[in-house]
Amino acid sequence: MAAPCARRGAGAPWALLVLALLASPLAAALKLDIDGQAIVDQLLHLATYSDDPNPAVTRILFTENDMKARGYIKQLMAEAGLTIREDTMGDIYGVLPGANPGAASVSTGSHCDAIPLAGAYDGTLGVVGGIAALRALKEAGFVPAKPLEVVMFTSEEPTRFALSCSGSRAMAGVLDAGYLDSRRDENGTSYLAAATAAGYGAATYGEMLQGARRTPADLAAFVELHIEQGPLLEKEGTQIGIVTAIAAPAALRVSFSGDGGHAGAQLMPWRNDASLAAAELALFVEHAALSAGSWDTVATAGYWDIKPNAVNSVPREAVLEIDVRDIDRERRDGGVGSIREEAAKIAQRRKVRHSVDIINQDPPATSAPAVVAAAAAAVSELGYSSKRMVSRAYHDSLFMAQIAPTAMIFIPCRNGWSHRPDEYASPADIARGVQVLAHTMARLAGDAADAKQEL
Ligand SMILES: *[C@@H]1O[C@H](CO)[C@@H](O)[C@H](O)[C@H]1NC(C)=O
Ligand SMILES: [Zn+2]
Repeated sequence: MAAPCARRGAGAPWALLVLALLASPLAAALKLDIDGQAIVDQLLHLATYSDDPNPAVTRILFTENDMKARGYIKQLMAEAGLTIREDTMGDIYGVLPGANPGAASVSTGSHCDAIPLAGAYDGTLGVVGGIAALRALKEAGFVPAKPLEVVMFTSEEPTRFALSCSGSRAMAGVLDAGYLDSRRDENGTSYLAAATAAGYGAATYGEMLQGARRTPADLAAFVELHIEQGPLLEKEGTQIGIVTAIAAPAALRVSFSGDGGHAGAQLMPWRNDASLAAAELALFVEHAALSAGSWDTVATAGYWDIKPNAVNSVPREAVLEIDVRDIDRERRDGGVGSIREEAAKIAQRRKVRHSVDIINQDPPATSAPAVVAAAAAAVSELGYSSKRMVSRAYHDSLFMAQIAPTAMIFIPCRNGWSHRPDEYASPADIARGVQVLAHTMARLAGDAADAKQEL
């Protein structure tokens, strides 16, 4: 490709060398103009597309406000000079072509949907900030060797179809057509019908999923910018977090059922109280996490449904939903297994019937060393403080990691608050996060001028 050279106006060989050095992302020569306040203004504008009054943000997949938000994201991509593409699932891409258009892309992105009464920064930072990063690189005259892209992933939050990360699951090829088809929203609408009404979709579930599919050959790297959603960076006064692993949840539903009875008339020896089986299991869940031997193992019995839930009745039915997370799949699945076994033992001892359903069990992700190294180099080039850390929440990166070398960049957020209206990250922290993202992507994509020089 001659374009990058011509654009740099390199005539004499010495000029070519100097320009190549200047353009090298290894040097501090990449001076990017990132305006944190301008990004915040865009995030706050995006927040106005909400089903609840600001500062709360509620934005549900393919609803009127989600469609308006998508329109705004495409407008920002167009203003940044990116080429826009959308897929059948509803994922939106903004692409900055590389000097080598056939090369695998260096990708970033996140989500713009928001759970009920959430805030303005979760996910949106990675999309609006990703667009700002690509825009700044383009305006600085940086021509990547590999294409750069920013993705707005469709429905990372599970609100409408009780399914998280539908866009990135489809990209990674781990979303089952039959399973997606079995999902319905509160009004009985299917994903395919909702996607089609929004201008996406395909003739069948299979075609729709295929239309979003990416492969490792398409992707050189994926790096997601996100607010931490936890308090560590702010507490320690660290500017940037580089994520080395993403914990993944497994969720189980355990149901116990006994015979119930009158709380006065049914004498103690003849009871089989379902809620006591559930209570024993909840204590075991805590024990299982505490005895796993790592801070990274957490387990929670957060959902209880007791029937008939009356003061004068022996509980007849108890349903628990249990969340088990870890960055180590074997250890997490071991915990899930021990909870299953304990549920069976408790049921036998307490003479209640029981059943266990696995709701989901996604693999955790480990960041790719090359992407972590690029982010670390970007941070030191920029002179920011940083630390390696684990993401306790999951993100689209969890699924992108199955098809691309992946890492994440975290910035502090106030008090670690997220998924609430007072979620907040400062313009200065946002500007630093976008700088790190842009420099990381530039390193991963390579400079077309350098590539030319090496030829
Ligand atoms: C379901 O229908 C109600 C009533 O028409 C509507 O207000 C709501 O937005 C619908 N839900 C979704 C997810 O479209
Ligand atoms: Zn998020």
